[in-house]
Amino acid sequence: MLAVVNTPGGTAPVELREVADPQPAPNEALVEVRAFSLNRGELRLFQIRPEGWRPGQDIGGVVLRPAADGSGPAAGTRVVALTDNAGWAERAAVPAHRMAALPDNVLLEEAAALPVAGLTALRTLRHGAPLLGKRVLITGAAGGVGHMAVQFAARSGARVTAVVGGPERGRHLRGADEIVEGIDKVQGRFALILESAGGSSLAAAIARIEAKGTIVIFGNSSGDPTPFSFRNLAEHPNARIQGFSYFTSEAEDRFAPDLALLAGLVADGSLKPHLVEHSWRELARIGPLLRDRQIRGKAVFHID
Ligand SMILES: NC(=O)c1ccc[n+]([C@@H]2O[C@H](COP(=O)([O-])OP(=O)(O)OC[C@H]3O[C@@H](n4cnc5c(N)ncnc54)[C@H](OP(=O)(O)O)[C@@H]3O)[C@@H](O)[C@H]2O)c1
Repeated sequence: MLAVVNTPGGTAPVELREVADPQPAPNEALVEVRAFSLNRGELRLFQIRPEGWRPGQDIGGVVLRPAADGSGPAAGTRVVALTDNAGWAERAAVPAHRMAALPDNVLLEEAAALPVAGLTALRTLRHGAPLLGKRVLITGAAGGVGHMAVQFAARSGARVTAVVGGPERGRHLRGADEIVEGIDKVQGRFALILESAGGSSLAAAIARIEAKGTIVIFGNSSGDPTPFSFRNLAEHPNARIQGFSYFTSEAEDRFAPDLALLAGLVADGSLKPHLVEHSWRELARIGPLLRDRQIRGKAVFHID
């Protein structure tokens, strides 16, 4: 079968190559992958993983053969699924508890956008629950995680301020009470801040947290450090700085219910992922656009 393979020493960071078919473990289903999405964090993996490593976490596809242990969806079920790696291929082995069946009106391309970004949006926001009536600030709001977090926070009753990098960047956002170009222009304080840009953005976020509020730090897209001392929190007593990793933030057996929740929110119209769609043969061209902040929402690829 064809699969995306890491080629850090080559002319492109990844290539499509012929590889052996997956051999699913007893708890894994064999999935025919129809669409997948690319995350910013995976761009870094292309650089640090060895030649021949197989990337790919977010997939939408159809179960070809269910898990031998009888768990998970039946053959023929359309699913959203999360793999550790090797998901960007014509077929993938996926643990049965890391997938959920799709409602009929959810496209496989929409499903492919959900796992990493959707779980991160959902689970970072849980650190501020209940959100009804609270002010929530979201940095990197134009991106994959950010645009979904804005919609979830709004649906939960929060008053959402979305930070974007420029006038065109916020066009696709739904649910924001205000869209602000740059965190320095943000007014007031917030009960919950989702911060992923790092550097001066994190410093500005700390200055805008309410007393007893929570800043969830889940990324450092800028790569810049942030000077910090206890004095920075002097005017924000008992505020909390919360680290976050989507993979370990909740128990392993919560993946399937949360993936089902995300798919259900798409089905009922509460979540509209913004997709930028291409053939998977364009992956090496689109990666740099994501890196350079040229993609709004999620970059999704069809396996054609
Ligand atoms: N901890 C976890 O479990 C976890 C899970 C998923 C993602 N992440 C991290 O969370 C961040 C967001 O992920 P994503 O998939 O949503 O990425 P994305 O789609 O590339 O979105 C990132 C957004 O951040 C904004 N940004 C602000 N300053 C930036 C800078 N200096 N460099 C690059 N972008 C900047 C960009 O929008 P503007 O140009 O409009 O500012 C961009 O849309 C990434 O750092 C990622 O590695 C962490």
